[in-house]
Amino acid sequence: MGFKGRNFVDLADFNRDELRAILDKAHELKRKQRNGEPHEILKGKSLAMIFMKSSTRTRVSFEVGMTQLGGHALYLQPSGTQLGRGETIADTAKVLSRYCDVIMARVFGHSEVVELAEHATVPVINGLSDFNHPCQIMADMMTIEEHKGKLEGLKIAYVGDSNNVSNSIMQGCTIMGMDVSIGSPKGYTPSEEIIKKADSLNKTHQTTLEIVNDPAAAVKGADVIYTDTFFSMGQEKSKEKEDALMPFQVNRTLVGKANDNVIVMHCLPAHRDEEIESVVMDGKHSVVFDQAENRLHAQKGIMALIV
Ligand code: CP
Ligand code: NVA
Repeated sequence: MGFKGRNFVDLADFNRDELRAILDKAHELKRKQRNGEPHEILKGKSLAMIFMKSSTRTRVSFEVGMTQLGGHALYLQPSGTQLGRGETIADTAKVLSRYCDVIMARVFGHSEVVELAEHATVPVINGLSDFNHPCQIMADMMTIEEHKGKLEGLKIAYVGDSNNVSNSIMQGCTIMGMDVSIGSPKGYTPSEEIIKKADSLNKTHQTTLEIVNDPAAAVKGADVIYTDTFFSMGQEKSKEKEDALMPFQVNRTLVGKANDNVIVMHCLPAHRDEEIESVVMDGKHSVVFDQAENRLHAQKGIMALIV
């Protein structure tokens, strides 16, 4: 499978076998790390990490992951680099490619990470854009496999604001053979663009995509319930949006409407008692901290294959 040198910007750029290979590598590296087996397969390699937005998980898991693989990571922000003083993304991509072996970027507009990938001569990994969050969904699918033993044939219900995370769920989970249900209030449903992309993936993979304005309908028969913040980074808060999304809160009543052994997921950071009831986040169905841990292993899997 030709992985070396490829960008990891959008899950739809990969087929099922390729995502499978990344997941297998991630599980393997997790086992090795747990058993204390050395796996310094990127010794001497450097990762440049550009963060245009805040991060806890992405920053720490990429940096620690690269260290565990034997390499080194650099944390770069607009303030403190020439990006903040107007040096272009294209020029930054060309320069970083002369020093580093891989670039990870967290950006606002998706076009920024696409532009970076166009001009870099080393692989570029998308660490979240306003459009998608592919690394997150790799960690999530790894987590689902650990708890459910499989992906194919399961139903995932994403409930809340349609955003970068739900967009990547609509792509990644579909490619891996899961049925996806999105429960969002009117005005906060997925864009036509992503629905079109997901529809074409559904045809290929014989899966279903359902978009409903009723949280109970979304979680009916679900094996996985997923939610995320009402307001993503860069979005302005509004009372109107909060009022629309509050009935979509993942709480005990909603969880009771899914399958008995449903797992509850959240990419974090969570706003307790807003999009998710605090007792649900700490309750027996929740796997949110496994997800957070698996960012480390999934991203090590991605880097091990593309660098
Ligand atoms: N889930 C996630 O990407 O978290 P951070 O914003 O902390 O990186
Ligand atoms: N949708 C959230 C995800 C954070 C990891 C955001 O973009 O802020």
